Amino acid sequence: MRVILTGATGVAGLSIYRAALADPSVSQVTLLTRRAIPSWAVLPPNANEKTQVILHDDFKMYPPELARGLAEHDALIWALGKTSLGMSEAQYTELTYTYAMNAATALKDAGAGSPERPFRFVFISGVQANPKGESRQMWANVKGRVERELPALLEGSNMRACIYRPGYFFPSDTKEFRQERMQQRGYGRRLADLIFTPIYTTFLPRFYTPIEELGRATIELAKNRWLEKDLFTNVEMRELMSALPAPDAPVAAKVRRDREL
Ligand SMILES: NC(=O)c1ccc[n+]([C@@H]2O[C@H](COP(=O)([O-])OP(=O)(O)OC[C@H]3O[C@@H](n4cnc5c(N)ncnc54)[C@H](OP(=O)(O)O)[C@@H]3O)[C@@H](O)[C@H]2O)c1
Repeated sequence: MRVILTGATGVAGLSIYRAALADPSVSQVTLLTRRAIPSWAVLPPNANEKTQVILHDDFKMYPPELARGLAEHDALIWALGKTSLGMSEAQYTELTYTYAMNAATALKDAGAGSPERPFRFVFISGVQANPKGESRQMWANVKGRVERELPALLEGSNMRACIYRPGYFFPSDTKEFRQERMQQRGYGRRLADLIFTPIYTTFLPRFYTPIEELGRATIELAKNRWLEKDLFTNVEMRELMSALPAPDAPVAAKVRRDREL
């Protein structure tokens, strides 16, 4: 299968990208990104042969030719997005809601999917997203708006919205991924990770998602696993993943690439 991934340079995105490269049923990963994958990213030797990179500046716009090419894929994983800290509601809404909804509209108009094989649009939401718009946290209402409106947009088409609400996650702290972590997290975020990680893992596991598990879970969703459901909470997903066999080889046993894709 061929899968599109946005946000591949981010913490979630890189984990999903690695899981896609490790999965034999994924023949191609198309990265829709505003910048190339940096050289500090830890990727396996097959990365180049399995990857297509589409550099795209403005995620509000999807010209017809681009949309037609994207619609030839089997699924899209929307991992583009970031913390709302320091953003106004309008800015965060454009990044989180408008970008994703415009992409879904373009794919739908370009005829993505078929009745036999729906094109799954997997949206990475957040554990406290609020589709009713009743949260005190701005980001939770904006994510919730996507959760509410994306399925409605795709109703009656050959596309299916799939909402995944992971909990708190952070870059792997193993030695192999240290460079990545240093690049992806500034000092403040690394300090926050240091403080919050033991709290989440020990006292609030319902609100925590191991990063490698997030990558694999998202790829399973893109592969149309568990098609009977469209919304996956963190707790549900962690249970579903624990019932799956472990991956053949750990994603970590990889080499560092020394050139950009
Ligand atoms: N971190 C958590 O604990 C957590 C928990 C639950 C849900 N989430 C959600 O998971 C998603 C991914 O989070 P993350 O922690 O992986 O974020 P991240 O590490 O900050 O990565 C953000 C990704 O989005 C891209 N991006 C940001 N602004 C963009 C723009 N204006 N145009 C194009 N690309 C843009 C970044 O590209 P560049 O590299 O080019 O900037 C990067 O690939 C977000 O929606 C977040 O709300 C996060």
